[in-house]
Amino acid sequence: MSPDTTQPTPALALIGAGVMGETILSGLIASGWPIDRLTATDSRPDRCAELTERYGITMTDNRTAAGAAEVVVLVVKPQQLVPVLDEIAPVLADGAVVISIAAGVPIELIESRLSDHAAVIRVMPNTPAQVQQGMSVISGGARATEAHLELARTVMAATGEAISLPESYQDAITAISGSGPAYIFYVVEAMIEAGVHLGVPRDVATQLAVQTLYGSASLLKQSGEHPSILRERVTSPGGTTSAALRTLDDHRVRAAFIAAMDACRQRSEELAETVREQYR
Ligand SMILES: NC(=O)c1ccc[n+]([C@@H]2O[C@H](COP(=O)([O-])OP(=O)(O)OC[C@H]3O[C@@H](n4cnc5c(N)ncnc54)[C@H](OP(=O)(O)O)[C@@H]3O)[C@@H](O)[C@H]2O)c1
Repeated sequence: MSPDTTQPTPALALIGAGVMGETILSGLIASGWPIDRLTATDSRPDRCAELTERYGITMTDNRTAAGAAEVVVLVVKPQQLVPVLDEIAPVLADGAVVISIAAGVPIELIESRLSDHAAVIRVMPNTPAQVQQGMSVISGGARATEAHLELARTVMAATGEAISLPESYQDAITAISGSGPAYIFYVVEAMIEAGVHLGVPRDVATQLAVQTLYGSASLLKQSGEHPSILRERVTSPGGTTSAALRTLDDHRVRAAFIAAMDACRQRSEELAETVREQYR
């Protein structure tokens, strides 16, 4: 909902209603953002019809939506972003807040395509947003005030948790929460395959691994304990868990995570540089 309940909820336009666009839209509606303060656009007419049918939302074109909005959320693919910025720049209202979800596109580039009046915010969300359990990290540009950041946090909190950090953290964040769900799915996949190898039927191994992940994540979050403490509690000296963890250490799994996340951060930096070069 609007951060300041004494003010009317800002008019919000969502440009690009694909997977992440629908996730934000449904989260906002569920959090109480009035449907008459929301508009959306998409390049495919059938997708527009589908969303109007599903949510009762007005779907329009990019210029009409962006021109009437106080908050514009850009949810197109990174390579689709600059043409959209060029299209909406002439119609943006003074003081509009532009929130970009496009992975790897620097704030400086977004600002350079808009007028001097728009406040720009960059967000790195993640896919658990689809079940309102996302993690979004928000960074403000040169014209973004604390009130703009608070507004962006409110928008993204409709899909899970949202915090603000300087943009210099965005590549590292990509390596933790942005790409993080893929590492977790990879680990669960490995546990299922190992379970099958140990003779457990695949469906049972899947249920055991998924519920173990869900339960462990819930325990971590609800207890507030450090993971080392929780791990120590299930590791009796000379026991079964200890044998498993020693084997993981022998295979340098911890070092592999550090190397993998460093590779992710580096790739994120490279992609941002490629985008900068393209529009220099
Ligand atoms: N999905 C994630 O978990 C995730 C995580 C982090 C960040 N992101 C970021 O979120 C953004 C969206 O990702 P997504 O997975 O939701 O992509 P997506 O499903 O492809 O959604 C983008 C939508 O925007 C539409 N579109 C393209 N050009 C447009 C234009 N000029 N005007 C209006 N609509 C237009 C696309 O239509 P067409 O299909 O016709 O092109 C598509 O329906 C990306 O920038 C991505 O980096 C996503």
